[in-house]
Amino acid sequence: MRSYEKLLEANKAWANSQVDKDPHFFTRLKDLQQPEFLWIGCSDSRVPANEITGTQPGEIFVHRNVANMVVHTDLNLLAVLQYSVEILQVKHIIVCGHYGCGGINAALTNHSFGIINKWLRNIKDVHRIHREEIDSIKDPRDQADRLTELNVQEQVMNLAKTSIIQKAWKHENRPDLHGWVYGLDNGIIKPVFELSSRTHIDPIYEFDDL
Ligand code: CO
Repeated sequence: MRSYEKLLEANKAWANSQVDKDPHFFTRLKDLQQPEFLWIGCSDSRVPANEITGTQPGEIFVHRNVANMVVHTDLNLLAVLQYSVEILQVKHIIVCGHYGCGGINAALTNHSFGIINKWLRNIKDVHRIHREEIDSIKDPRDQADRLTELNVQEQVMNLAKTSIIQKAWKHENRPDLHGWVYGLDNGIIKPVFELSSRTHIDPIYEFDDL
């Protein structure tokens, strides 16, 4: 059996076991999803949103990219954000990074990696904003860990700078924004930053006519 065929076999077994546990599982989810959470995570194969949070299909709306970035020119992210906030009406948005992130580590080097340089530049910007703190850390691994946390914080801030979030905050007092970091070595998620709905950010970023 080829490697990908194993996935199809496992899928059949999984579908059957779901129906064994709950005969209405698929019929219930078929016509409606009402997830309470939007997850913006890293594409890393070791950080699967549902597994590490013990959630089922239907519970989390997921967007993943390299190093869990919120980039304002990323039409993909913006489409996911608008749909989940305005149509699905999620109550919480989680930006989840992880220690040992290849994107963070790459951004800390001066190597050119091709096209992804443009993506990683956004992480270098986070480094520049927090240069004093990062540079005061001696151990390179501790530096990367702290940049991972600060990157999550800045991506949560980037969410709060969008008109999509500010409009929802103004009219509906949701969603709350959460910054988390997952540990590859122990499987534990560490909350590192939070912005409750209607938190005021630097006024230069606040729109007054939403
Ligand atoms: Co990563």
